[in-house]
Amino acid sequence: MNPLEVIGHKRDGREHPPDEIRFLITGYLRSEIPDYQMAAWLMAVCIRGMTAAETLALTQAMVASGEVLDLSAIPGIKVDKHSTGGVGDKVTLVAAPLAAACGVKVPKLSGRALAHTGGTLDKLESVPGLTVDLEPERFIRQVRDVGIAVAAQSPLMVPADKLLYALRDVTATVPSVPLIASSVMSKKIAAGADAIVLDVKFGRGAFMPDVASAEELAAEMVELGEGAGRRTVALVTAMDNPLGRTVGNALEVQEALDALAGKGDAELLEVCLRVTREMCRLAGVATDPEKVLRSGAGRETFERMLAAQGGRLERGLPVAPVQVAVKAEAGGHVESVDALEIGLAALELGAGRIRKEDRVDPAAGLVIEAPVGAQVRAGDPLAVVHARSHEVADRVTGRIRNAWRLSDREVRRPPHILARVDKNGVSAGG
Ligand code: URA
Repeated sequence: MNPLEVIGHKRDGREHPPDEIRFLITGYLRSEIPDYQMAAWLMAVCIRGMTAAETLALTQAMVASGEVLDLSAIPGIKVDKHSTGGVGDKVTLVAAPLAAACGVKVPKLSGRALAHTGGTLDKLESVPGLTVDLEPERFIRQVRDVGIAVAAQSPLMVPADKLLYALRDVTATVPSVPLIASSVMSKKIAAGADAIVLDVKFGRGAFMPDVASAEELAAEMVELGEGAGRRTVALVTAMDNPLGRTVGNALEVQEALDALAGKGDAELLEVCLRVTREMCRLAGVATDPEKVLRSGAGRETFERMLAAQGGRLERGLPVAPVQVAVKAEAGGHVESVDALEIGLAALELGAGRIRKEDRVDPAAGLVIEAPVGAQVRAGDPLAVVHARSHEVADRVTGRIRNAWRLSDREVRRPPHILARVDKNGVSAGG
């Protein structure tokens, strides 16, 4: 077998047998296949697609490229949760501790900010003293003792995805359903949980543009998870507008703490409770998450988790020195708040990284004062920008103001959870 022959098969629209896919992945990992050949193959996959059998073989080859976490020392059904990424998406910070407070064991490996979307690890690291680098023994002990740990993936897990992802990022080969599905699911399978709840986002602030493509991705990921013996459920949720009221690391941790005290944005609470319910269902836990939320036990579990990872909440979350309101130039009803523009503004404020080596500013971001459905008059604040200087804040105010679309008519918030996908197929989100 040689790489030219295998790339040619995909170029011509033929189905790879599993050994061709293993040949490519192991060859690339050993640097026997260079970037330019792998990039040619990735582009052929983007254009020609892959069958379910090929996507499964790719996922398996990626899992086999590194270590797989053994969680058998944790009793019970372990449930992981994963979002495909969004703006203001702090669902993990609320739903995962809430599920743990209900009795679910939650061993969660998370990622960092990617492009304009936020990352759970960056958010958690805004808590003074907190570490996300937990050795497997400490990670397992914490899940046993506290019910939840949220940590960074070890560099020894799924190294093939790390290499491929970096190559895809610079060769315009990210948006491909089989490539995204195998990338996400190889990491979830290697992370070792028995069951997985996926939050597949679509819309302006997400990688999937519409419900149909998000459903297709969700179905593919569910099939891969179930094929690997993991119970898998996906929710397809909207990401046209930012989720909740804050975007930025420390701001989102504070919003999650408030939501866990029952003081949350209605849409945020709706999706968090739904994700928690799905996690409980997969774990066979009958507890009602809403009751647990009202009892304050979810917040207590979150605080115990932060403390177990070295976090010192009592020292206070970082606060930006400059806070500036962005005001409406005219009155109206808020029809939409462009999640992509808000994500890009947050990135420019320092909430994410423009270059790999950039340091995230934990206090940077913005608070949404006028969400979808609100009525504003000229001069009312749309958002408050949190920045390290007036100069940085001034750079983004125009972009932020332009993200708001106002209407003369009253606006109702659009539905947030559009569909649920499990091994039996797609059903309405409701
Ligand atoms: N997140 C991932 O982990 N992989 C992708 O390909 C896209 C989003």
